[in-house]
Amino acid sequence: MPIVTFLPHRIILPKGGQFFACPGETILDVGLRNHIQLEHACEKSCACSTCHCIVRKGFSSLSGWSEQEDDILDKAWGLESHSRLSCQAIIGLVDIEVEIPLYNINHW
Ligand code: FES
Repeated sequence: MPIVTFLPHRIILPKGGQFFACPGETILDVGLRNHIQLEHACEKSCACSTCHCIVRKGFSSLSGWSEQEDDILDKAWGLESHSRLSCQAIIGLVDIEVEIPLYNINHW
């Protein structure tokens, strides 16, 4: 099973963490299953951008993204080329490393 490494986030995960991902699981679901307080204001319906994350390793192993995800990502704070909505990015067979941005659209 692939491992998801969440890099330290000074508020919600100061020491970071590593967790196994189940087949077909999204980045958000791995975090929530492991009690990380990741925001997901639209309940994973690809409508809010609060679940924005930046994939530092393993980006190309994730599922592809839709036009809707692309549109919603444009509203995210701190957008980068390897940004994804964690509710939409399904983990493949490769270990990944994820950064949770310091802010999201709810915390400006
Ligand atoms: Fe709203 Fe992911 S939870 S876009």
